[in-house]
Amino acid sequence: MNLSNKVIWITGASSGIGEAIVYALAKENCKLVISARRIEELNRVKANTKLSDENILVLPIDLEEHQNAKDWTQKVVAKFNRIDILINNGGISQEGYALKTTAEVEQKIMNINYFGNVALSKAVAPIMQQQKSGKIAIITSIAGKFGQAGLSSYSASKHALYGFYDSFRLELKADNITVLLVSPGFINTNVTLNAVTGDGSIHNQNSPAQENGMKTAIFAKKFVSTLKSNRNHKYIGSKELLAVPFKTFFPNIFYNLIYKMSNKKK
Ligand SMILES: NC(=O)c1ccc[n+]([C@@H]2O[C@H](COP(=O)([O-])OP(=O)(O)OC[C@H]3O[C@@H](n4cnc5c(N)ncnc54)[C@H](OP(=O)(O)O)[C@@H]3O)[C@@H](O)[C@H]2O)c1
Repeated sequence: MNLSNKVIWITGASSGIGEAIVYALAKENCKLVISARRIEELNRVKANTKLSDENILVLPIDLEEHQNAKDWTQKVVAKFNRIDILINNGGISQEGYALKTTAEVEQKIMNINYFGNVALSKAVAPIMQQQKSGKIAIITSIAGKFGQAGLSSYSASKHALYGFYDSFRLELKADNITVLLVSPGFINTNVTLNAVTGDGSIHNQNSPAQENGMKTAIFAKKFVSTLKSNRNHKYIGSKELLAVPFKTFFPNIFYNLIYKMSNKKK
């Protein structure tokens, strides 16, 4: 798939993985819509792309307010007349055991990572049906393939994305709309720093896994090449990706091992 002149909307574009994807796409001569909550960060990202106002739209959104998804979508159509690709990347991580996490925090994580993501895709898909073409990409996680202590709601939200989009893909195939799930391993961003704790405060501390993770520019290059392909799914990361086949084929050994490893870290 040639990305030149395609209208691509990316959420979570104000930092980390999303920001790096914006820069990689800007080199592909696309028209971009960049969304997240922090407008000043979006404006910084926009300035770094050097794209003219004609070719980039800053559209602040809060995925928790996903009842507005159709209005956001209309703003994109008003500017560019079409939406070729939606990249659902915006998300929030978690740090805290389930028994110490309030129902409000669990709801917030599901609202941003799952319901916000789904509502946006359901607002955009009818536009793609009219065009008779489109692609919806989702950044899930290897945490969507197995559970870890302290990540119950995050992991649940990423598992849920697999269930929804593997089904949605089949429902949209006849309309020539494709669905791509991308599952990162450890990527060097502030995702753990920005994670929400059990009482709703920000964790404010990064993890060695993130600090030693793949650089965002490398991730973005691999992501863009996957976006151009016909793949349904792709893992992007380093040796941590081996956890997925390990858990699939040897679940008992896997969970005994990560239990021992997480207890050692305490
Ligand atoms: N880094 C990793 O190792 C890793 C691994 C697997 C999956 N992921 C996934 O990758 C995606 C990007 O994360 P990242 O690592 O790049 O971390 P990040 O730097 O913290 O980026 C998260 C992005 O999501 C946006 N966001 C958060 N809450 C939002 C809300 N309520 N409404 C709209 N946008 C919101 C943030 O922007 P604002 O704060 O401006 O709203 C930011 O742009 C997430 O879905 C994450 O789960 C990351």
